[in-house]
Amino acid sequence: MNVPIIAPSVLAADFANLARDVEMINQSEADWIHIDIMDGVFVPNFSMGIPVVEAIRRHAKKFLDVHLMIVNPEHHVEAFQRAGAENISVHIEVCRNMHRNIQQIRSLGCTVGIALNPHTPVTLLEDVIQDVDVVCVMSVNPGFGAQTFIPHTFAKVRQLREMIAASSSKAKIEIDGGVNLSNIHELLEAGADILVAGNFIFSSPDPKAVISQLKTVQ
Ligand code: DX5
Ligand code: ZN
Repeated sequence: MNVPIIAPSVLAADFANLARDVEMINQSEADWIHIDIMDGVFVPNFSMGIPVVEAIRRHAKKFLDVHLMIVNPEHHVEAFQRAGAENISVHIEVCRNMHRNIQQIRSLGCTVGIALNPHTPVTLLEDVIQDVDVVCVMSVNPGFGAQTFIPHTFAKVRQLREMIAASSSKAKIEIDGGVNLSNIHELLEAGADILVAGNFIFSSPDPKAVISQLKTVQ
C-alpha cells in the first residue's frame, strides 16, 4: 500500500488561532492543507471565503487543496486560484458543463479535482476520468465536520480504483469526511491516495502526533 497524502481540514481548526494551527500543520508530517468553502446553498452551512484562503496562504508551507461546496463554481475558481489554491475541487452535482469546468481550472495552473456526494455514482466520471487529477469521494454528506463515516465509501473507492486502472488516468482518490484510525486501513486497501481529516486531528490534545499516526499506521 502506498503511503497516503494527509490533508488536515482547517474547518476543524480554531479560527481565532488559525495562524497557530496552520503552523502546527507546517511542522507536522501532513502533505496538504484542505480548505472547505461552503456557500449556504449547495450545502446548509457557511465556512470561510477568499480572504481566509489568502490568510492561510501567507502562513502555509504545504500544498493548498481547496474544496468548493458552492453552486456556480465557474464564477469563483479564478479568485480562489489568485488567493493561493493549488488544487481546486468542484462538485459534480453543480457542474452543468463539467468538461468546461475542468478546462477552466487547468488553465489557471491548478490541479483539478471533482468531488462526489455520497449518493452520486462514480460511473458519472467515466468520460472525464483521464482529465482529472483528484476525485474527492465524500464519505459524509458535505456541509459539516465531525460526522460519521459512511461505510459504502469502501465499495465506491474500489470501483473508482478499477475505473482508473482501466483508463490511462493518473487521478488520485481523496476521501473526505469521518476519516480516523478505524477506517484508514480499509480505505488504503481499497485504493485511497489522499486522506482528509478534520475533527480526528484537531480534537486531539496532540494533533501533530495524530497526523503522524495517519501517515504511518496502516
Ligand atoms: C465536510 C468537509 C470535510 C470536513 C471533514 O463537508 O468537506 O472536509 O472538514 O471533517 P471531518 O474529518 O471532521 O469529518
Ligand atoms: Zn472537504
